[in-house]
Amino acid sequence: MPLKISRWIVLCAVCLWMTTAAAAQDAPYRDSALPVAERVEDLLARMTTDEKIGQITLIEKNSLTPGDVTALFIGGVLSGGGGYPAGDNTPEGWIAMVRGFQEAALQTRLGIPLIYGVDAVHGHNNLRGAVIFPHNIGLGAGRNPALVEQIAQITAQEIMATGIYWNYAPVLAVPQDIRWGRTYEGFAENTALVTELAAAYLRGLQGRALSDPGGALATIKHYVGDGGAAWGTSDRGADNIDRGVTDIDEAALRAVHLPPYIEAIDQGAMSVMVSFSSWGGLRMHAQTYLITDVLKGELGFEGFVVSDWGGVDEIDPQNYYNAVVTAINAGIDMNMVPYDAARFIDVMQTAIANGDIPMARLDDAVRRILRVKFEMGLFDQPFETGDPSLIGADAHRAIARQAVRESLVLLKNADQTLPLAADARTIFVAGDGANDIGLQSGGWTIEWQGGVGAITDGTTILQGIQAAAPGADVIYSAGGTFRDQVDAAGAPLMADVGIVILAERPYAEWEGDDADLRLDGMELRMLRRMRERSERLVVILLSGRPLIVGEALTLADAFVAAWLPGSEGGGVADVLFGDHAFTGRLPYTWPRTIDQLPFDAEALNAAPDNCDAPLFPYAYGLAAEDTGSAWLDLALTCEGA
Ligand code: BGC
Ligand code: BGC
Repeated sequence: MPLKISRWIVLCAVCLWMTTAAAAQDAPYRDSALPVAERVEDLLARMTTDEKIGQITLIEKNSLTPGDVTALFIGGVLSGGGGYPAGDNTPEGWIAMVRGFQEAALQTRLGIPLIYGVDAVHGHNNLRGAVIFPHNIGLGAGRNPALVEQIAQITAQEIMATGIYWNYAPVLAVPQDIRWGRTYEGFAENTALVTELAAAYLRGLQGRALSDPGGALATIKHYVGDGGAAWGTSDRGADNIDRGVTDIDEAALRAVHLPPYIEAIDQGAMSVMVSFSSWGGLRMHAQTYLITDVLKGELGFEGFVVSDWGGVDEIDPQNYYNAVVTAINAGIDMNMVPYDAARFIDVMQTAIANGDIPMARLDDAVRRILRVKFEMGLFDQPFETGDPSLIGADAHRAIARQAVRESLVLLKNADQTLPLAADARTIFVAGDGANDIGLQSGGWTIEWQGGVGAITDGTTILQGIQAAAPGADVIYSAGGTFRDQVDAAGAPLMADVGIVILAERPYAEWEGDDADLRLDGMELRMLRRMRERSERLVVILLSGRPLIVGEALTLADAFVAAWLPGSEGGGVADVLFGDHAFTGRLPYTWPRTIDQLPFDAEALNAAPDNCDAPLFPYAYGLAAEDTGSAWLDLALTCEGA
């Protein structure tokens, strides 16, 4: 081709590009005065197939550059667990990271803003310095919807302060088997309680309407039946349950697992994440019936459905093309790919060209995503950032501390050991859970699996005890040895009060599946040592679920389930020393032995009359003035005490 002509062709293409770009500037979709539906249709009509495919693509932030966002028209970017900006886990670091991706999205021909998502499941938990609330299990124990609403509102404020408007929370699982490593992410085993707290969370996180400046977009997850999987059915391994098979009939699925979704959709939920689990012989990611017929049809869900991390691939690990076609046709709209954008886009292009995915289905997915983006105001204010001075603010920590207080469940209180007198002379504190923000926060804190040590700011339980008992001699030994505490004759000194804080190691997802839930031998030996050195022995258990406590309950005078309280450990001492009452009640039935799991309906309704009954029933919890209970008597009898 002669050089002159080809130059003309290039020039004309540039001309055309400039006219469409100019047209887009005053296109109806940019006019915030028009109704959302009109803006959506106008924009959709302007989009090429490639732009549509990009719009349904959600990529993990380390797996693409801002340049890729522009080139591939990417519609969403996410931070997974631990997805903080490398080397700069500060509000400024987050703001710059999110802004960089957003600027790249706005540079595309149509300037469609992207949506950035994060797992802020107990506060903005990947950000160092954010307030960390108790995990949902503790909020289930607290049973205070007004407080859950406040917590969600604060979480929205802290993520928005880093420029993020999309949260992968709340978890609406109704966990039926506490061996599951995600038990603590669920509020309770009880459908009604999960439903009530879910609604409160939605109200708090989203505000009155998505367009509300104070609200962020919630994602209800994992649809549906994630909490109903059976032990050993997971492809993670024979000793796993996470991502397993929920082998119950449709009536049970609807009765136990669906109601929280119905309520949350009623409260305005506009994003639903699909579960890794399977039901009815199909992976949820392939469930046309439950996603398209039930969720979008019967329940009238108008928002968008997002797949979970690589969840589409799992439909057919050998054949990605088949997996993608199945998932999109089943009704998945936004795809958490999460790593390989090009591979997903390539397969989508082929599937559309082949007619294996109808264009109408792609249009529907894009329409749903755009509608939410418009309603959230992302087109009008793509860079809006909340107030960074709110991150980890004192007022936020005060609410978290209240949540900790309300989450504590008193299981035993012999001779009214609790509340402790602030003037106890000597207090021995033992257990590495006593002085460790990581252990008291659990999984999904800074890192996906959580961590040990001073991983973020907060108050440890030991610091709380020290502050609450300024007149006492508080001595801490992680291993509970107290070798130096001897009298003049060299004999071991007795503490007035011994407090042992036992802690599960942090975990998330399948890594937390646990076949035996036992305290380990070292912990029991420490408890026995502490028993000998303490007039009164208080045991506080930090865990993501009930554990098989056996002898520990016998050794203790008082026993408190404190779950995973998060950054405000001071809330524990508030109640131990009687400044606040014990009001928490069990969100899960507590097993006596591991063989009792999973509980059947009969066991759940058992009376405390023989050792086959659970250790403590659902909703159990003493007030400090209670002297005992039939359950406790049975527990001690069955333990042989
Ligand atoms: C989890 C989701 C989470 C996603 C992104 C998945 O593995 O199941 O709950 O939102 O990762 O981190
Ligand atoms: C998990 C995600 C998590 C991510 C963090 C994945 O394997 O499934 O939930 O966010 O790892 O890297």
